[in-house]
Amino acid sequence: MNISITKTTSPKTIPTENLGFGQHFTDHMFLMDYDRATGWSNARIVPFDRISMHPAATVFHYGSEVFEGLKAYRREDGKVQLFRPYENAKRINSSAERIRLPLIDEEDFVAAIKALVEVDEKWVPSKFGESLYIRPFLFGNDETLGVHSIKKATFMIILSPSGSYYPEGINPVKIMIEKDDVRAVKGGTGYTKCGGNYAAANRAGENAEKKGYTQVLWLDGIYRKYIEEVGAMNVMFKINGEIVTPELSGSILPGITRKSCIEVLRSEGYKVSERLISIDELVEAMKNGTLEEAWGCGTAAVVSPIGKLYYDGTEYEVNNNQIGEVTQKLYDLLTGIQWGKLEDKFDWTIEI
Ligand code: PLP
Ligand code: COI
Repeated sequence: MNISITKTTSPKTIPTENLGFGQHFTDHMFLMDYDRATGWSNARIVPFDRISMHPAATVFHYGSEVFEGLKAYRREDGKVQLFRPYENAKRINSSAERIRLPLIDEEDFVAAIKALVEVDEKWVPSKFGESLYIRPFLFGNDETLGVHSIKKATFMIILSPSGSYYPEGINPVKIMIEKDDVRAVKGGTGYTKCGGNYAAANRAGENAEKKGYTQVLWLDGIYRKYIEEVGAMNVMFKINGEIVTPELSGSILPGITRKSCIEVLRSEGYKVSERLISIDELVEAMKNGTLEEAWGCGTAAVVSPIGKLYYDGTEYEVNNNQIGEVTQKLYDLLTGIQWGKLEDKFDWTIEI
């Protein structure tokens, strides 16, 4: 893939304090166009700016959009590295396949990210806990209102220097278990990273926020009985000594952090079970004190302890609202690899 590069003539001031998440954007962005007749073309890095689109563009009306999220980390030696970008390449194609958007060559996907991060390299923060969040996204761009398969699409990447996703940082978050709305069902799009999944989550998310909870924990869409995942992260529990996480059922996102946490924990000798976890089992464990730890994991959220869980009128406290031993260890090991403080024995990182 040949990428043309046009550099900005008016670089912005790079923010260094109070980064938050997804609020600042770098000087450049990547774009590439798809036409069913000719395939992908015009790969380009251009100054970051608004884009002009036809009001009938498919994405505005029928939600044909998928995205990814990964990060570039600055190591202590000053070099910059990516964490498992080929996993994101595979997943965007799995999402695109479901929504019927065009697939992207995995090597091109990673090459585009590398090229853009290289151009905006000085935007990668150097404080531990901060990183350059990378947001690749792909959308249908036909200029017609007919509901039909996509003929034109656009792939873009934008970059955002970010700190922690939750204002709580590494402090425990409060999560509300949702009883009414569901996010996804088997056979639907739950396993994809498509924008529509997040739109479907908005109402419950807003209700949770109004009650003082950070995010929603979803139950399955058929029985409203089995634990699925949290709004922007997968979820893990330590119940009576056993580390458990919901199995990949087709309705939850196969998180790259989830997969990495399982591998890290197993390599440390912990047994991790991927299985069905019913809300009854969880409530019982919260009542009798055998829920020892709970945490979420995701690219943006990293490893985030859950200190309070609300379900059906009752708020339960987990581990006295403190980060648990396994959660802390997992956080240290995973972030150690991501920020290059620990040896990457899994070969997960790719230097830019
Ligand atoms: N589940 C949902 C709904 C998410 O949005 C995310 C974030 O990407 C995750 C799980 C975690 O996935 P990953 O670890 O690949 O970032
Ligand atoms: C990520 O963790 O990369 C995500 O995409 C979560 C997002 C909804 C903020």
